[in-house]
Amino acid sequence: MCGIVGYIGKRSACDILINGLKRLEYRGYDSAGIALNCNASLTVTKRSGKVAMLETALLQDVDQQVVENSVAGIAHTRWATHGLPTVENAHPHLDNSSRIALVHNGIIENYAALRTQLQKKGSVFVSETDTEVLAHLIGSFYSGDLAVAVSEALKMVEGTYGVAVIAVDAPDEMIVARRGSPLVIGMGSGETIIASDVSAIVAHTQQVIYLQDGDVARITATGADVFTLDQCLVDRDISEIEWEIDAAEKGGFDHFMLKEIFEQPEALRNSIRGRLDKDQGFAILAGLDLTPRELASIKRVVIVACGTSMHAGMVSKYLFEGLADLPTSVEQAAEFRYCNPLVGADDLVVAVSQSGETADTLAAVRESILKGALVAGLCNVVGSTIARETGRGIYLHAGPEIGVASTKAFTAQVTVLLMMALKFGRRRRLSREAGVQICREIESIPEMVARVVEQSDAIADIAAEFADVEHAFFIGRGILYPAALEGALKLKEISYIHAEGYQAAELKHGPIALLEPATPVVALLNDIPGREKTLGNVAECRARKAPVLGVVTEGDFETAASVDRVISVPRCSAYIAPIISVVALQLLAYHIARIRGCEIDQPRNLAKSVTVE
Ligand code: M6R
Repeated sequence: MCGIVGYIGKRSACDILINGLKRLEYRGYDSAGIALNCNASLTVTKRSGKVAMLETALLQDVDQQVVENSVAGIAHTRWATHGLPTVENAHPHLDNSSRIALVHNGIIENYAALRTQLQKKGSVFVSETDTEVLAHLIGSFYSGDLAVAVSEALKMVEGTYGVAVIAVDAPDEMIVARRGSPLVIGMGSGETIIASDVSAIVAHTQQVIYLQDGDVARITATGADVFTLDQCLVDRDISEIEWEIDAAEKGGFDHFMLKEIFEQPEALRNSIRGRLDKDQGFAILAGLDLTPRELASIKRVVIVACGTSMHAGMVSKYLFEGLADLPTSVEQAAEFRYCNPLVGADDLVVAVSQSGETADTLAAVRESILKGALVAGLCNVVGSTIARETGRGIYLHAGPEIGVASTKAFTAQVTVLLMMALKFGRRRRLSREAGVQICREIESIPEMVARVVEQSDAIADIAAEFADVEHAFFIGRGILYPAALEGALKLKEISYIHAEGYQAAELKHGPIALLEPATPVVALLNDIPGREKTLGNVAECRARKAPVLGVVTEGDFETAASVDRVISVPRCSAYIAPIISVVALQLLAYHIARIRGCEIDQPRNLAKSVTVE
């Protein structure tokens, strides 16, 4: 969940590392540090708090000759697992001789036992972290060949890691390795940049190598040699990053989250482009790589995912069952992986993950492959672990999502899942005419989303009325139930208002006890089947004096008259309603958080990519 960046080349390593950390800060932001290899010594600087604190320290407290002239170094922005976010616990960590520095993403599960062994041999630890133990372990194996020392140490490690290591005695190289935490090598001209994701690399080069689990690489200014822990060389392809640096910048918006909300029409066009056969009413999703026979043999779809991606998966239950007669279950990935899941050859397991790195979703993928299921990935990040390990799947093509609160990934996930349901439906029971109609609806999604986004200012006015509340409920039913869950998640994660999403009828089985005039209810009332029933639930809420904000179809004056405040959204079919409504709820959460002065792109305690259990 942390961000790692490393540089070796001819330019000032410090500038490149700090800029890289700023781009990776969304992966963790409770402390940051840097180690620079210069003039036969390691200069390590660390601060708790954001990267900006580290930048100031480098200007004020460090010899500027080192800052300007170092041509190799490693840096880290942390999301704490072991120990508080203090300077001592921040990375990089040094070995016992202070001649080797290490940054690490992941968890060393057997660190306590290793720590005791190392202490017996004289190691003195200054932090509470598992990472410092790994640094000392590497030091204990070091006798001139850093790659060998790193490999030998990693053989003793249980757990996950993405690491970058430098040594005073080896100023021309850096060793990196991965197991369970991503690491990418950017191949520049006369320089090499490594990072935990491409957003720290893309400003320098588009050519990258995605390391695979078990890989170790010796990095120099002219390239990388990749090998196994047993020092056998392996071939890894060089890939091209598909997007440009502007995609990872705010582009005039105050926050990445707002930019990404506004980008949705374009992101969705990219997700849809080339994937609809409008003549046949069919979806072309080549990456799924399913033969007609395999398609026909699928008896059940099982979605595995976490957070927002799970909510997208919950929407897809209605799509697969409604359009393709395919029974669908949606499993929280952390539950699935440990419940000895009943999946097999008749099941298509779909792992939905924006990052493609979520630890629990990845584990669910591995368990499903082991059990013989067909497994597909629905990822946004190209080359991510889930995309690679599933081997079949569909990329969202939504562009990089930097804001910790997921927005465009959700709408792209639902859109792609709808195309999947169309494809499966046409193979099973949907007529060509029905397929053609759904194609038209899918094509209209970007335009409808644009019409919701245009209402940002109007939604900001409504947000002002609700910004002081401490609790809120979101209700919906049918395909809008997961949209209610997603609306509540957006609000709580960025505004810190306690928000709960409920199936509309479920409210009176307990939660209604909490309703009172200061606790608003946001009701999803699009003009689709189920609206009448939800209106009944709205009446129950208003009878308890809870103010109701309705998301209502344009022109549905009767429904609008039944609530206290209204956000209007375009008329659309039930399959598309969750997308349209969630965009309105994203804007509501955003504006409320902004009014409350919250750190929208980096909410407290969160990180973008959850690579630990
Ligand atoms: O990268 P993933 O889609 O696998 O991430 C899953 C969740 O961690 C993620 O959706 C999280 O819930 C977001 N912060 C929600 O906005």
